Amino acid sequence: MYSPLSIGSCTARLPIVQGGMGVGVSLSGLAGAVAACGGVGTISGIHPGYRDPDFAADPVRANLRAIGSELAKARQIAPDGVIGFNFMTVMNHYDDYVREAIAQGADFIVSGAGLPTGLAKLAAGSRTAILPIVSSARALRLIVKRWLQVDRLPDAVVVEGPLAGGHLGFAYDDVINGTEKPLEACLTEVLDYVRELENTHGVQIPVIAGGGVRTHADVTRLMGLGASGVQVGTRFVTTVECDAADSFKNAYVAAKKEDIHIIKSPVGLAARAIDGPLLERVAREGRIPVAHCYGCMGHCKPSETKYCISQALIDSVSGREGLVFCGAGASDAHEIQTVREVINDLLGQ
Ligand SMILES: Cc1cc2nc3c(=O)[nH]c(=O)nc-3n(C[C@H](O)[C@H](O)[C@H](O)COP(=O)(O)O)c2cc1C
Repeated sequence: MYSPLSIGSCTARLPIVQGGMGVGVSLSGLAGAVAACGGVGTISGIHPGYRDPDFAADPVRANLRAIGSELAKARQIAPDGVIGFNFMTVMNHYDDYVREAIAQGADFIVSGAGLPTGLAKLAAGSRTAILPIVSSARALRLIVKRWLQVDRLPDAVVVEGPLAGGHLGFAYDDVINGTEKPLEACLTEVLDYVRELENTHGVQIPVIAGGGVRTHADVTRLMGLGASGVQVGTRFVTTVECDAADSFKNAYVAAKKEDIHIIKSPVGLAARAIDGPLLERVAREGRIPVAHCYGCMGHCKPSETKYCISQALIDSVSGREGLVFCGAGASDAHEIQTVREVINDLLGQ
């Protein structure tokens, strides 16, 4: 039997958090299904409006519209579920997207890929819970220092280890050389700091561990170390309810261990992806010229970037050749299951 997982004023019956997966991999379909089963559903806030007919002309407006419509659709699937958004701190218009999600009544906002130092100020006065994603106690300390300036602490913390999917919170060289800390070590140091915070401030801050969680044994091990819940991405991709195209899900089922690589993404972070024609073309030709700039990151130079990461992720999730992000465990996927089956499996039921 597992204890429920409290995030701010909301409580999920099960300690399973579905991690936000962009672009478009976790929208209302997946987040709603996980929340309906009693877990925590996370809608990806990375270009959620990519299917909007006006997306190319005005991505920001299309994304703002999609924040409301995806949340409403997820709530229809899980009227009593816990549902929130994941936004990457490095994205342009981060503040606008966070404000819109709060205005639409998101239960929580979770942010990584950079330090979400400004999130507490944006959420001030709202009921929306706020969670940073970190891979070290050091990063969490920096965030908390800033959040305390506006009298706020994290409602929960996600600790992500090096086996996770998408962008990683570890230096590229460390991941390549295997010198990064394993999840268990990251979790332990973050728990030590969180216990300090809890004692000083008289609060409880659940810590959620993710990155490579695939089995009931993984869940038991991490919760035995002190995690209050687990965050799971990769296992939820190969589900009927996942919002990605079938070809994206099937790329996981077909992937072998040697097909999964650490890349240096145009965002400037290490990331994990399945080898495919896009990465082969970049290796062969050096770069793929950007056909259209969506203006998603301040530091990206369209004339220099190796390829447009937004376009590459939009293409793969839409069923075209593109960039398929995945966790280290993607090669262990052998079939498409339902969200209910994955959750039962994780909980040993
Ligand atoms: C396809 C894919 C896309 C992802 N996109 C994001 C993202 O946009 N933002 C983010 O914070 N994490 C992202 N992640 C990380 C997941 O939210 C999750 O924390 C992580 O993958 C957990 O590890 P696991 O996949 O081994 O379960 C992504 C993961 C995958 C597999």
